[in-house]
Formats: sequence, structure tokens, C-alpha cells
Amino acid sequence: MARLVFGVTRPRKPILGTEFAGVIERIGSGVTKFAVGDAVFAYTGARMGAHAEFVCMREDGHLAPKPPNLTFEQAAALCFGGTVVLGFFRRGRLERGDRLLVNGASGTIGTAAVQIGVQMGAVVTGVCSSANVSLVRSLGASDVVDYTKNDFTANNRQYDAIMDTVGTAGYARSRAALAPGGRLLLVYSGLVDLLRAPLISLTTKTRVVAGPAPVPVNDVRRVAELAVAGHFTPVIDRTYAFEQIVDAHRYVDQGHKRGSVAITVTSVHLG
Ligand SMILES: NC(=O)c1ccc[n+]([C@@H]2O[C@H](COP(=O)([O-])OP(=O)(O)OC[C@H]3O[C@@H](n4cnc5c(N)ncnc54)[C@H](OP(=O)(O)O)[C@@H]3O)[C@@H](O)[C@H]2O)c1
Repeated sequence: MARLVFGVTRPRKPILGTEFAGVIERIGSGVTKFAVGDAVFAYTGARMGAHAEFVCMREDGHLAPKPPNLTFEQAAALCFGGTVVLGFFRRGRLERGDRLLVNGASGTIGTAAVQIGVQMGAVVTGVCSSANVSLVRSLGASDVVDYTKNDFTANNRQYDAIMDTVGTAGYARSRAALAPGGRLLLVYSGLVDLLRAPLISLTTKTRVVAGPAPVPVNDVRRVAELAVAGHFTPVIDRTYAFEQIVDAHRYVDQGHKRGSVAITVTSVHLG
């Protein structure tokens, strides 16, 4: 289904990249909120184009000042994980005191979900492999399930919300681990779970949230606030130069990155 949006045989947009951080080089005559030299981060979404030397953004669009306590790489990684998590937590009505399980807690969305879930007052359990247990704990998870040793659906524990970022914790597998009235947040799901989500929500006590998360402008500003307050710091696994972008994609495609991979685009100035 994603191919219908992004291109069936190859990407529709010649310049990829949906988020970036950098310094403002030029502004239009009516711009009042930003000045040349300001450090910013932004989300271009389906418009893409963020892997370019220059990107044109509207001042009232998905653009915000870079949190001064973050590097450019960290700021560039704020939106993808942070805004998706805010969108799913809102649609899944995450509340203070909820027991939240994050499957795939060491990826971009998972590391954001653990941190933002803790900040929202949830009691967070992360699911990851042995190599990432200490990382996920350091992000604030009260409990960590190592999926190479244990199955979170077989430990007689129940959760008010389960977020699946990997696609291995759909309704059939997760329902026994959901408390009555629980919410299943399918950030990544197969087609069957995606299509069944409304029906399950209507006919059972479980609410299933699936499909693309809309990204309101306010959520870009909200992730910046969370970062400034020290509640959300994106995890950067590796940084590649733009010239090594093929290697970067190969690494990401293996499905085992920790947090995000950043691409640095050589800085040039307009003459
Ligand atoms: N619905 C939406 O609006 C939306 C928006 C954006 C993205 N997405 C989707 O969200 C998904 C997650 O994106 P992402 O960038 O966060 O993923 P990611 O960073 O590539 O996820 C990699 C992580 O998944 C972990 N992992 C792999 N197999 C696992 C398993 N069986 N159980 C638990 N953890 C496992 C890996 O940990 P180990 O190395 O320890 O295995 C690794 O840290 C993508 O499929 C993306 O397309 C959806």
C-alpha cells in the first residue's frame, strides 16, 4: 500500500528524505518568525526532499527552532519518532499510570515511545534483543523483555496499551496480553491487521489503532519542547556522509538499527 503513495517501482520523488536540521540561509520578505542564521529542524513528510543541500519551508509549516541542547543529527531525528509516537498515543488515549508495552523499543519509534511514554506518566516495558536491554532501560523503561529469551505474551502480564513498531505483535498475538479495554497501537502492521482494526475496535473491548499517523504542525513544536525539557533525546546509532547514503540504506534495511541513522549533507553557502 505504501508503494501506491511513494511509487510503485521506484520513488515518485527524486530527492528522498522526510526530516532534516540545518541553518537558515535565506528568508522571504514576509517572514517574521525566523532569521538568516537560525538553527532549525523540520519535517517535509510525503513531500520529501530533505536529502538536499537546500530545502524551502513555510515559516508556519512543520518547522521549529533547533533545541540548543541537541546536535543537528539529534534534531534531524526528532520528528520521525517523536511525532509518530505523539499521534499514536493521542489516538490510543494513553494516560498517566497506564501500563505500556513497546515492541521494538530500540528502534527510532521505539526509543521515542519509551521516553515520551515515561514523560506522560506511563509505566513502560520495552521489548528488544539482549544487545539493547541496557539502552532501553537507560531511556526510562521500568521493565525490559529480551525477545530472544522471553515472549512478552507468555509471562501472565497484561498491559493497558501495546505499541508494535516491528510487525510481530498484531492482534492475534497480543490480545491475551491486553487488559480489558486495552489499546493496541499498530505503528507497523500487515494488511490483515490494518483492515481488521476498525472491526476489532467495534466488536471487542480492544481498541486497535493502525495506519499512517497524521503529523500536525503543533506536534513538531511539541517534540522540540520535550527535547528542550530533557524528556526526549533521539538516539543516534550511526552518522553517514551523503556520499555513503547507499551504505546507510543497506544498514537500515537490515532492521536492527538502534534509534536513528543520520546523513550529513556537505554545507555550502548560496552566493
Ligand atoms: N504508522 C505510521 O504512521 C508510521 C510512521 C513512520 C514509520 N512507520 C513504520 O514504523 C516501523 C518502525 O520504524 P523504525 O524506524 O522505528 O524501525 P527501526 O528503527 O528500523 O527498528 C529497528 C529496531 O527493531 C528492533 N527489532 C527487530 N526485530 C525485532 C523483534 N522481533 N522484536 C522486537 N524488536 C525488534 C531492532 O532491535 P534488535 O536489533 O535488538 O532486534 C531495532 O532496534 C517501520 O516499519 C516504519 O515503516 C509507521
